[in-house]
Amino acid sequence: MKVEMNDIRKAFGHNEVLKNVSFSIKGGEICALLGENGAGKSTLMNILGGVIKQDAGSIVIDEEAINFQTPADSQEKGIAFIHQELNLINDLPIYENMFLGRELKTKKGTLDLEKMKQETEAMFRKMNIDLKPTTMVHDLDASYKQIVEIGKAMMANASIIIMDEPTTSLTDQEIERVFTMMRTLKEHQVGIIFISHKLNEVMEICDRFVVLRDGNLVADGHVAETTTAELARFMVGYDVRTEPLKREKKIGEEVLRVEGLTSQTFFNNVDFSIRAGEVVGFTGLLGDGRSELFQTIFGAEGIPKGKIFLNGEQVTIRSTTQAIEEGIAYLPRNRKENAIIKDMNIMENAAIVTWPTFAKRGIIHTEKHIEVFEGHRQALRIKMGDLTDSINSLSGGNQQKVVLAKWLAANPKLLILDNPTQGVDVGAKEDIYDIILQLADEDIAVVVLSSEAHEIIRVCDRALVMYHGVIQGELSGQNMTEHQIMTLATGGRLIEEEEGERHEHIEC
Ligand SMILES: Nc1ncnc2c1ncn2[C@@H]1O[C@H](COP(=O)(O)OP(=O)(O)OP(=O)(O)O)[C@@H](O)[C@H]1O
Ligand SMILES: [Mg+2]
Repeated sequence: MKVEMNDIRKAFGHNEVLKNVSFSIKGGEICALLGENGAGKSTLMNILGGVIKQDAGSIVIDEEAINFQTPADSQEKGIAFIHQELNLINDLPIYENMFLGRELKTKKGTLDLEKMKQETEAMFRKMNIDLKPTTMVHDLDASYKQIVEIGKAMMANASIIIMDEPTTSLTDQEIERVFTMMRTLKEHQVGIIFISHKLNEVMEICDRFVVLRDGNLVADGHVAETTTAELARFMVGYDVRTEPLKREKKIGEEVLRVEGLTSQTFFNNVDFSIRAGEVVGFTGLLGDGRSELFQTIFGAEGIPKGKIFLNGEQVTIRSTTQAIEEGIAYLPRNRKENAIIKDMNIMENAAIVTWPTFAKRGIIHTEKHIEVFEGHRQALRIKMGDLTDSINSLSGGNQQKVVLAKWLAANPKLLILDNPTQGVDVGAKEDIYDIILQLADEDIAVVVLSSEAHEIIRVCDRALVMYHGVIQGELSGQNMTEHQIMTLATGGRLIEEEEGERHEHIEC
């Protein structure tokens, strides 16, 4: 199958998002669709997926001009769409979600639940996914939800699959699994459009690339003939820094210490301490417990066993409100689920939870808040219209920046950033790293939770690697390498050659 989009134009009000874009994909190829946050990638794919209509231009499938009115029209033509914002129904089990809109029926015309369960199970087996089809979607972690979305698209037997940032909250292991699946689909002549801000993924899995900037297609070519640096330059229009971020560390007083922290299911006997001015990374694979650990410290998961000390004093944090009052801020791991309120506008989203910071005797100092937000908007280069526009009108990466701006405005002593660069483009990642280091210089203790080893290495002074709820090891300086992180994250032990040699020596 060959899909051609010709001279596509689309504007939202005065905002001309796609000026004149032509794009094509055929069966058996994987094409990366790249561009800065707000470049128009999701918009172009929403047009191909029948979600919105173009203002001008045509879509041609196998030489036939097509006019999609609804997403169902696009699906019918063999196009499956994994949306950037997850699209599952929480109150249904996985297998029913898998067949939404194309439910299997028995001869009597009732839902054939058994068959749907079996087919889902077979798909999971094929994908090597350890999930029960009968699990309710609301019981799944967002990473698993993403996997279910991917499985769903695969089960639709589509000829073309659009993947809009399918890997943002997946760990390396799961990403590899998805890639294996993509390679199989490619062998079966399925065409895949792959949107991702992780350029190393693009290099690994894609055949072709196209780059959007300012509403135009500015570059295209074969992945084998380019580099991540060149792709980054095509996207943002300037050379993106790649050298390590070096800084003079000035470490202050202890801000947070935990002793023997234990939850019933997620983490066990965790000890660590963090000082003012430090950037400490926590990493590991899915199920390592790091997010739950910090959600607990932030008062969102009930009171754990063990002790928490803030600025040297033992505290019991009973709620997130109390945590904020104690000077803790927490940017959640999944923007789509935990950080954005879809019915609210940009400023409301930027204000919620943190508004007490700007309140005096119960009255919110809105002007001050807007002024602070404006500062962050500029630093983070948030691409947006008015403060009162719906949050839905922002591209995914720009929504993430709004949530980050919100927590920065809370002026915390301890800033916990869980998956802070999810969905943000290569240039904006650097802006965020700069802000993290600047905050550390201002004596804030910063915790970065990330499953991307190179992100931890780039920005953190030291890293604690977790494995099944325990801290498996700590890395810093020369020792902080992707290899060492991976070894610890998979349950291995630190490779300390010198130590080993010394021990051998003693034994002799
Ligand atoms: N429903 C909408 N109403 C108004 N503006 C919109 C709407 N959807 C998208 N836009 C605007 O269109 C532009 C492109 O957005 P789009 O979501 O396509 O970007 P993107 O390339 O997918 O970015 P990201 O990498 O952040 O996901 C943005 O300026 C965005 O604000
Ligand atoms: Mg997008």
